[in-house]
Amino acid sequence: MIKAITGTKDILPNEIRNWYFLENTVRKIMNSFNYKEIRTPIFEETRLFSRGIGESTDIVSKEMYTFLDRSETSITLKPEMTASVVRALLEHSLDKQSQLNKLFYISPMFRQERPQAGRFRQFHQFGAEALGSTSAALDAEMILLAYQILKTLGLSNFTVKINSLGVPSSRENYKNLLKEYLADKLNELSEESKKRYGANILRLFDSKDERDKKIMENAPLLIEHLDNESLEHFEEVKQLLLSAGVPYEVDPKLVRGLDYYTHTTFELVSGSVGSQAALCGGGRYDLLVKQLGERDVPGVGFAAGMERILLAMANENVLQEYKTELDYYIVRLNKELNKKVFEIAAKLRANFSVEFDYTQRSVKAQMREANKLGARKVIMIGGEEYERGMAVVKNMEDGSQTEISVNELV
Ligand code: HAM
Repeated sequence: MIKAITGTKDILPNEIRNWYFLENTVRKIMNSFNYKEIRTPIFEETRLFSRGIGESTDIVSKEMYTFLDRSETSITLKPEMTASVVRALLEHSLDKQSQLNKLFYISPMFRQERPQAGRFRQFHQFGAEALGSTSAALDAEMILLAYQILKTLGLSNFTVKINSLGVPSSRENYKNLLKEYLADKLNELSEESKKRYGANILRLFDSKDERDKKIMENAPLLIEHLDNESLEHFEEVKQLLLSAGVPYEVDPKLVRGLDYYTHTTFELVSGSVGSQAALCGGGRYDLLVKQLGERDVPGVGFAAGMERILLAMANENVLQEYKTELDYYIVRLNKELNKKVFEIAAKLRANFSVEFDYTQRSVKAQMREANKLGARKVIMIGGEEYERGMAVVKNMEDGSQTEISVNELV
């Protein structure tokens, strides 16, 4: 038997109402913050992501679904949306049409990671990107937006973690400090961290290796070596979060796995889903647009993993129970009436949800099916009433019956 590919997952009809609820909540709140939806293709030219996200990141160096198409172009299934949104902004000159573009998305993403609970190879993100302003109000707005969506979904067991990565100049100085600190400890680091020491030294803070963690415990922290401009920006973000009533923790070790960040970075981390606990992640990226298109457009954004959020909702018992629902089930008493039933259903379906039997089942079996489908009313066609031009309508909630003329139904 052919099965779905490892790390991918079917969303079955019994789960779909949860997805609708999640998507509707996202659209409603994005709308109240005045973000407009953008949809971009599932695949892009590979160099968009390798340039945008950074060659040395895990995503680009080991997780992308990349292949040559029939015309030998290197194609990649999108592992995230920020680079695609920036490409679309530049390609359609959205930045020239309005000074600030506030955009949101809901889309599948693809990363060839090791599958486990809350980690898939095809997963879904919703997210937002605001392009065109360096205002700290937008950093705070992103965090508030993510916070408000999770709260509205009913989640409460999560923490908002924030940090600042500053501007590249202060970060470069700091990286040298970190290199100095680690210089005589290199041999004690894990193999992975040894590699990162050269390529992406900040990611050493993300290591799960116990020895690495111990060494990094006493490492100098970027936040203690930020320039004044970066500190002021960070201070303003914190003040705005306080005024909006968003509780946060400063986590100086929050470095994030993508290269494009400057200033604020943040994650909303769940206490209800096990090791893959980051529900949302994001931050400011003032240099990415320039890197991809040579126009100076600052940006800030976040993305959230929808499977993880639904898992957190299940574990926090805030998923709603949905009953199957149907307005009408049409029962026919004999099969000569199949055509009539088809005609009535076609008419009623303009305004109601309607079902009938396609398999010549007995009246009893049809009634059982009506119950199973949660029909509010059953229309019975046939017998003596039908000869008089009438149909019987049975209200399944209270059992009462009325008659209605078949012509009127049609
Ligand atoms: P990210 O941290 O790579 O950031 O992903 C954001 C969220 O997507 C994660 O917190 C997680 O919930 C979910 N996620 C990531 N990988 C997987 C996976 N394999 N399976 C299930 N869920 C996953 C970004 O993607 C940035 N583009 C966020 C951003 C937007 N920064 C600025 N603007």
